Amino acid sequence: MAQSSHRWWQTGVVYQIYPRSFQDSNGDGIGDLAGIISRMDYLKDTLGVDAIWLSPFYPSPMADFGYDISDYCDVDPMFGDLATFDRMAAEAHARGMKVIVDYVPNHTSDRHAWFVESRSSRSSPRRDWYIWRDPKPDGSPPNNWGGFFGGPAWTLDPQTGQYYLHQFAPEQPELNWRNPEVVQAMLDVLRFWMKRGVDGFRMDVVGLLLKDAELRDNPPNPNAPAGLPPNDLFGRQLHTYSEDQDDVHDLIRQIRATLDEFGDRVGIGELWGDLSRWVKYYGERGDELQLPFNFRLMYQPWSAAAMRRSVDDLEAALPAFGWPNYVLGNHDQPRFATRFGGQAQARVAAMLLLTLRGTPTLYYGDELGLENGAIPPHKIQDPQGVNLGAHRSRDVARTPMQWDAGPQAGFSSVEPWLPVTGDVATRNIAAQRQDPDSVLNLYLRLLACRRATSALQIGRYAPVETDAPDVFAYLREEGGQRVLIALNFADVAVSVVIPDFGAGRVVVSTTRSREGSTVLPQLTLAAYEGMVIVL
Ligand code: GLC
Ligand code: CA
Repeated sequence: MAQSSHRWWQTGVVYQIYPRSFQDSNGDGIGDLAGIISRMDYLKDTLGVDAIWLSPFYPSPMADFGYDISDYCDVDPMFGDLATFDRMAAEAHARGMKVIVDYVPNHTSDRHAWFVESRSSRSSPRRDWYIWRDPKPDGSPPNNWGGFFGGPAWTLDPQTGQYYLHQFAPEQPELNWRNPEVVQAMLDVLRFWMKRGVDGFRMDVVGLLLKDAELRDNPPNPNAPAGLPPNDLFGRQLHTYSEDQDDVHDLIRQIRATLDEFGDRVGIGELWGDLSRWVKYYGERGDELQLPFNFRLMYQPWSAAAMRRSVDDLEAALPAFGWPNYVLGNHDQPRFATRFGGQAQARVAAMLLLTLRGTPTLYYGDELGLENGAIPPHKIQDPQGVNLGAHRSRDVARTPMQWDAGPQAGFSSVEPWLPVTGDVATRNIAAQRQDPDSVLNLYLRLLACRRATSALQIGRYAPVETDAPDVFAYLREEGGQRVLIALNFADVAVSVVIPDFGAGRVVVSTTRSREGSTVLPQLTLAAYEGMVIVL
């Protein structure tokens, strides 16, 4: 139904798989590529997503669970091998699904051969592939930068007497993208995977690739929250000189040009910051990333007005060629069913995500309404949680996928790397498929509706005013087809009158029994009810 002028990454729905936690095929408690292959039919026939994005599966010592890569062009034996990857990609492609892989260009593992060579001596030919600086005269680090996971962003290498830069774990030294050899080597990584058939990349922290050329001290953050742990230097400063430097755009254009060598491939960037700076990553002429990730919905309070403002601000900021996208969760954020306050809110949020104008990215398990896993403190794995406190642990959103009510929720035959927690007896795919009122079935109806409705896939977006402050209503319209979405963020029923559209038919509701009914101009929404109404 999508017009041919729209690309697959515009009309489609992306599904993020965290490979460690999706499906274990060989009984070691860790998910793997063969496990993903065994769940292809779920992804295609049950969910019907258009693309899968896999978080890193490359060889890694796992200091940051795969975001510390020791070889960009291979598969960690824990996850399989290149042949299994090829089989996985072929199975996805045979079903018409695209394959997006993670690209982690800012840093390697400290065990990567490049870094091993770089640290071996000051005169190593690869010394300048990373960011090495002398200590200050008093022996302290070259500047004041703090790392995301706590502590300084520099570690002293005793053997050569210099510090290297790492804004994440010390095991994640940062590449020097001001060195043209690094640029070429890293663009070749993209080519390697595109030759293997991957359709796109999710690019890890690409806004960090270049730092201030003089590595100046970051200024203090006047709005730093109170009560930060003493080692959270990062939280106490603005990141003026360590991220989002103006010259990074030259590199992003080179990355995009490399994707374009292979035709229709998508670049999705993990990019933060104010809308006005963020939007620049589309490129002045659309020559940077097709989809800079838009994380803004994740940070809104549970409020119709706040969500609407976030959407309207994005729509207003986008260049004409810029395609929007939305995300509610990923492997770094608490589960949104927890964040937004419960299952009822999670259903409304799912309807929002799947009916806005823009590519939605789903995170595995959100279709079950998975909530934050309860991880006992001694089982915390995430370096961020270990260093900055249990409340910062990202493990809560990385617990095993819950397939059925059997042992380990059908994820593995042994105790998994993170525990299965929560109400697994009902919160699993098998049980929810049987229950027409489950959150999974709501997702299936929303996904089917989106697939069948070009107004939802590509139609324009316009907010609709109502006199109810807790209702976010908007119109999606394409070629004469008009769909109204009305979402009640309140925990009480609300009645509104929407006079402009005549009557409409409810095609999806968070309350299934309402589906098929005729509504408007009078519309009554139950507490936390959302409706998709065809006009
Ligand atoms: C990104 C990833 C996160 C990782 C970090 C360092 O933010 O999403 O999981 O820890 O980059 O690679
Ligand atoms: Ca395994």
